[in-house]
Amino acid sequence: MILVTGAAGTLGREVCKQLAEKSLEFKCLVRKTSKTEVLEKIGASLVYGDVRDRASLEKAMKGVTQVISIHSVGIQKKGVTYWDVDYQGNIHLIDLLKKSGGGKFVYVSALGVSLEARFLLYKVKQLIANALEVSGLDYTVFKPSGFFSDFTRAAGLIKKRGIMPAMGSPENRVQGIYMGDLAYCMIDSLSNEKARKRVFLIGGPEALTYRQIAGIYEKLLNRKVRVLPIPAGFQKFVGFTVDTFTGYRYDILGFIDAFSSGDSTCDNTPLHEVFDIKLKTFEDYLSAFLSEHKQNGF
Ligand SMILES: NC(=O)c1ccc[n+]([C@@H]2O[C@H](COP(=O)([O-])OP(=O)(O)OC[C@H]3O[C@@H](n4cnc5c(N)ncnc54)[C@H](OP(=O)(O)O)[C@@H]3O)[C@@H](O)[C@H]2O)c1
Repeated sequence: MILVTGAAGTLGREVCKQLAEKSLEFKCLVRKTSKTEVLEKIGASLVYGDVRDRASLEKAMKGVTQVISIHSVGIQKKGVTYWDVDYQGNIHLIDLLKKSGGGKFVYVSALGVSLEARFLLYKVKQLIANALEVSGLDYTVFKPSGFFSDFTRAAGLIKKRGIMPAMGSPENRVQGIYMGDLAYCMIDSLSNEKARKRVFLIGGPEALTYRQIAGIYEKLLNRKVRVLPIPAGFQKFVGFTVDTFTGYRYDILGFIDAFSSGDSTCDNTPLHEVFDIKLKTFEDYLSAFLSEHKQNGF
C-alpha cells in the first residue's frame, strides 16, 4: 500500500491520477480543509491527518510499505513553517516507515537545493534528503525544475497585453518540466531497481531563455510578446521589506535568490539511463493548455 502526502496539491493530484490509472493500491493523506474533488472523482481512498500531528500519521501509515512524500508548506505562518511541515513531517514519516519494517520512500525536492542555498526551504529540503540517505530505507529523491504549469500562470496577461514578466534577465535559461513526466518517474521509481537509493535531477527536454519562451507564446498566440524583467533592485527592496516586517517568515529574499540568480538547468542523462521516458516540450504543453482553455479566451 502506498501513502501519498500532499495528495490534494498540484503535483499530488497528478501522481494520484496516474496511480489510479495503473490500478496501484494507494491512499491519500489530506486535511479536513483540502480540496479533494479530483481525488474523489478518481475513487481514491482518503485518510485525514496533518503531518505535524504524529498520531494522525501513525494511523495513516497502517499497512503502508511505500510513501510518496509531496506535502510542503508553501507560505510559512506562525507554527506552520518549513521546519514544522516539511522537515518534521518527513522525519515522522521516515521514522514510522522504518518502525513498520522499512519500505520505499519517494521524496520531491527541487533543483538548486543545497545546504548552502540562501532560500530556507531549500536548506530544509536538503536536510530531508540527508535524513533519507542515512535512514537505511530504500529511497528515491527527485530534484525537479519549475513546473510548466507555473509558466502558464501569466498566460492571461501575455495574451491580453503581450507582456511576459521575468524574475531574472531575459537571457537566463530555465528547463521547466511537465508535471505528468515527473509523476511518471516518481511512480516508476517505486519498483525500478535502478532507482534505489538515488537522487535524480529532472528538467524538461530543453533549456529555454525567457526570450525563447516568449517566442513560443508569440508563435502559438499569434501576437507580439515582450519579456518584462522585474528590476533586481525592486525585487530585493520588496523582499527585504516583507522579510523585515514578517520576521523572516516568508523568506522572500531567499525565494528571489533561488529564482532570479541565473540559469536553472540540469543534465537529464542519469534520468534517461534509469527511466524510459520521452519528456514533453514546453511548446507541446502550451499548445495543449491553450486549446484546453479556449473557452477562456485563448
Ligand atoms: N511548483 C513547482 O514549480 C515546483 C518545482 C520544484 C519542486 N516543487 C516541489 O514539489 C512539491 C509539491 O509542489 P506543489 O506545487 O504540488 O505544492 P502544493 O500544490 O502547494 O501542494 C502542497 C500540498 O501539501 C499539503 N500540506 C501542506 N501542509 C500540510 C500539513 N501540515 N499536513 C498535511 N499536508 C499538508 C497541502 O495540503 P492542502 O491541499 O490541504 O492545502 C497540499 O496538498 C513541493 O515540495 C514543492 O517544493 C515544486
